[in-house]
Amino acid sequence: QWGLETKWMGKHLHHYDQVNSTQDIGHELAKEGAPHGTVIVADEQLKGKGRKARSWHSKKGEGIWMSIILRPDLAPVQAPQITLLAATVLAQVLAVEGDVEPQIKWPNDLLIDHKKVSGILTEMQAEQDHIQYIVIGIGMNVNQDGSKFPDDIRYKASSLKESTGHAWDITKLIQKILKKFEHTYEVFLKEGFKPIKLTWEHYGYRIDETVTISTMKKKWKATLVGIEADGALQIRNEDGSHEKLYSAEIEWGEG
Ligand code: BTN
Repeated sequence: QWGLETKWMGKHLHHYDQVNSTQDIGHELAKEGAPHGTVIVADEQLKGKGRKARSWHSKKGEGIWMSIILRPDLAPVQAPQITLLAATVLAQVLAVEGDVEPQIKWPNDLLIDHKKVSGILTEMQAEQDHIQYIVIGIGMNVNQDGSKFPDDIRYKASSLKESTGHAWDITKLIQKILKKFEHTYEVFLKEGFKPIKLTWEHYGYRIDETVTISTMKKKWKATLVGIEADGALQIRNEDGSHEKLYSAEIEWGEG
């Protein structure tokens, strides 16, 4: 069914009709010793998880609900690099397969026409200064009609079908993502973070533009400069000073 063209990624692929969350299965399998590159795919999730304890709508056949177990030989502080890497993989697959112009909104939302089509959730198990495993969750809205999104996210959520006007083959997309992921991961091992950073910034949403940024404490205007190897967003404030942000929201839409 999967017809994967990979060497190691997805060689162990667990497919389920329905689960609470592929992330939870990822943790269970990883604790039982599942190898690097193990993939979990579900047709439907009952309790799909997003970042910041948000829920993620994951209805049957409407999208990619997938988690990947990785065992990188990295220090925990380098884990964000893997998330940024994953975002570049999704952007490139969408650009090539979908003939669309995806953008990556920091830290790791995939947008098409300013609307979110995909998100990444990275969860890590680390011991002292070494990563034991990472479960990287990829959610991609593929075949939803726009009207399917709940009111509160409709203005900022979309699907591939919505933005390209036609339905997509989910299995084929998964094949392409895993192949590109494997390749990009190998480039990362050989050449480090630099090529990932360049690709990320190429697709980066509103890089070199002035945007409104908000944190828990304040809201201000700044120019987005790029990303750092530790996952931080680098910005330039109106007084010319540079700053690294680890947690912040970039406002949607104009300014
Ligand atoms: C986000 O943008 O907030 C991240 C969304 C991540 C959703 C995916 S779907 C597959 C995996 N399983 C989950 O429960 N969540 C991730």
